[in-house]
Amino acid sequence: MTAFSRRDALTGAAGLAAAALAGGAGAAPKRAPIPFGSAAQIETFRADPRYRDALKRLCDVIVPMNDLKWEALRHDRARFDFSGADELVGFALKNGKALRGHALLWGMALPPWAKEMATRAEAERELTRHIEVVVDRYKGKIATWDVVNEVIAFDPKPGEPYRDTIWQRLLGPEHVEIAFRTAARVDPKARLVLNDFNFEEAGAGVAARRKIALDIVRRLKDKGIPVHGVGMQAHLYAENAIDSDGVRKFVGELGKLGVDVEITELDVIDWKLPADTATRDRAAASLVSTYLDAVVTPGQPKAIVTWGLTDRYSWVHETFPRKDAAKARPLPLDEDYRPKPMMRVLERYRRGRG
Ligand code: XIL
Repeated sequence: MTAFSRRDALTGAAGLAAAALAGGAGAAPKRAPIPFGSAAQIETFRADPRYRDALKRLCDVIVPMNDLKWEALRHDRARFDFSGADELVGFALKNGKALRGHALLWGMALPPWAKEMATRAEAERELTRHIEVVVDRYKGKIATWDVVNEVIAFDPKPGEPYRDTIWQRLLGPEHVEIAFRTAARVDPKARLVLNDFNFEEAGAGVAARRKIALDIVRRLKDKGIPVHGVGMQAHLYAENAIDSDGVRKFVGELGKLGVDVEITELDVIDWKLPADTATRDRAAASLVSTYLDAVVTPGQPKAIVTWGLTDRYSWVHETFPRKDAAKARPLPLDEDYRPKPMMRVLERYRRGRG
C-alpha cells in the first residue's frame, strides 16, 4: 500500500469514527475523502518548527511552493540546484505525504539567462533537458506534476489563446505539447496536469479561458499525448462571485474528456473586505464552501491544496495589500495556527462529508 492510499484509508476511517460518535446518519461520509494539502515555503519551513508541525499534522499532500521553479533550480545555467526541493521532498516522504510538483513550464519565476533565450532550438533544448532532469530525479517520489502553469491568456482575444511568455514567443503553441510529451516519456506513471487560474468567476473572459483549457486537453488527447488533470489554482477574490454553474459545467466537460480536476492553490484574497476579522473569516469560509460545492457536484477532485497554511505567511500580504494595512487572512489557520472557519469547511471535504 502506498503512503498515499494508507493516508486515504486513515482519513476515511477517521470520518467513519466521527460519524459513529455523532451517532447520526447525517454525519456519514457522502463521498470518498478528498486528500488535503498545502504548499510549503522553504524559508518558513526551515525557520519555524510550528510550521513544520502543522504540515505534519494537517496535510496529506505537500507542494514545494517555490523550490521546483526554474528560478530556484536553474539560477546557475550549467548546474541544477536541488537543495530546497530535496529538503521538502525528503520531509514529505519521511512523513508519509504525497507530493505535487510545481511547475515544469511557467513564463514567470525564470532566471535572467532563461529570459534571454533567443532561438527556437535553444528554447526547445533547454525546456526538454529541464523536464528530463527534474522529472527523472523525482520519479517515484513526486506523483503529480503541474506540467504547464498559466499558459492560457489572461483575457484571451480571438485567435490568441496563449499567454505571451518566452515559451510562446519562441516555440508557439507547441510549447505545451513539448512539455507534456517530455514529462510522459520520462515518468510514464506520473499524473500530468495543466494548471491555471481563474476558471471560477462570471464573464466572457473566464468562459473563454475554460474553453481554451478544454481545447488544450482535447488536442493533447487527439495527438495521443497523456494529460490527466486540470489544476484550478483558486486564488479566490472575496469581492467577486463564484459562477457555480460555469464551474460545474467545466468540471463536467473535463470529466467527459476523461480528465480529473484538483484544486491547487486555494486562498482567499480579502483586500476589499471590511476590517473586522470575524466578518472576513466567515466570508472566506463561505466563499470556499460555495466554490468547493460547485467543483464536487460533477467531480471528485484528486486533491484540495491551499497556497500556504497559516495567515502568518502568505503571498497575499505583498501581492494584494489592504488599504487599511491590516494583515490579510487568506488561509485556513490564523497567525497563531488556530483553525479558522475555512479549516472546518476543508475538513468536511477531507472526511468525505462535503
Ligand atoms: C507565488 C509564491 O507564493 C511566492 O512566494 C513567490 O514569490 C511568487 O509566486 N500562481 C502560481 C504560484 O502558480 O507559483 C505563485 O506563487 C502564485 C500565483
